[in-house]
Amino acid sequence: MTAYHQPVLLLESIEALDIDPRGLYVDVTFGGGGHSREIVSRLEVPGKLFAFDQDEEAVGNVWEDPRLDFIPSNFRYLQRFLRLRGADQVNGILADLGVSSHQFDAGERGFSYRFDAMLDMRMNAREGRTAADLLNDLDEGELQRIFGTYGEVRNAKTLAQAVVARRNRLPFLRISDLTTLLEGLAKGNRMRYFSQVFQALRMEVNQELDALEDFLVQAQRVLKPGGRLVVITYHSLEDRMVKNFFKTGNVRGELEQDFYGNINRPFQVLTKKPVLPSAEEIAVNPRARSAKLRVAEKV
Ligand SMILES: C[S@@+](CC[C@H](N)C(=O)[O-])C[C@H]1O[C@@H](n2cnc3c(N)ncnc32)[C@H](O)[C@@H]1O
Repeated sequence: MTAYHQPVLLLESIEALDIDPRGLYVDVTFGGGGHSREIVSRLEVPGKLFAFDQDEEAVGNVWEDPRLDFIPSNFRYLQRFLRLRGADQVNGILADLGVSSHQFDAGERGFSYRFDAMLDMRMNAREGRTAADLLNDLDEGELQRIFGTYGEVRNAKTLAQAVVARRNRLPFLRISDLTTLLEGLAKGNRMRYFSQVFQALRMEVNQELDALEDFLVQAQRVLKPGGRLVVITYHSLEDRMVKNFFKTGNVRGELEQDFYGNINRPFQVLTKKPVLPSAEEIAVNPRARSAKLRVAEKV
């Protein structure tokens, strides 16, 4: 455990990788390196872990180790970077999606309504549009879709209208510009409402579902037969995508047949139901509460 991030479902996910000490592994969400450390500790050269993170602050958690190769990139480019490293096929891949506690707790990154700073929310602070940009630029229908679908915000239409009315007077810049607006619209649990809206914006800013789909498709290609894919999600849409992908090889969950009518089943699913954190883990680390772990083995 580090102050940067406390790893979730740590032993469950590492055991699920079924590590061969001399194999090649990938942790596509390095963060504070909690999962990576456990994987590396089970490896011996030429065994190696390739670790990805698109947040340049995660680099500060990397340690010198011949068994660790850190790649400061979005995991949607998984296959390209592995190929550049001469690692076309790997034994196992872990993804622990979402944001780290560090990102959430560093007020200036703009992920949390608990602070006032620029309304940013980019995991990769070097590129892309900020949350403020989206609020200022997207049309009302798009905003409604984002709030409704990603945040499951009940008054998504009213909120989208209020965003447009506000930006016609003054553009969004800071977190407080948004929270002031939300104060007037929150019904019931205010914190929950704020979290839903912030989560929705974060997912859009970072194109999280698109990146997940790109990742899953490439993970299937780069895994050796018998290789394990282990994914921890924190959002129902992500969990559904992973579940569908494991069953059918596509995130929509559409069964595909080959020319002879054989159904394509690229994985053997090892978790019929997702593995959830124990009550003890949630008590120690409340941020684990929405985690779901799924494991599949490439056929
Ligand atoms: C939940 S944290 C991972 C924590 C890590 N397992 C640990 O034990 O410290 C998620 C991390 O993944 C990174 N991340 C999220 N989406 C990413 C993407 N598309 N490409 C690369 N990194 C991503 C975030 O920047 C964050 O550091």
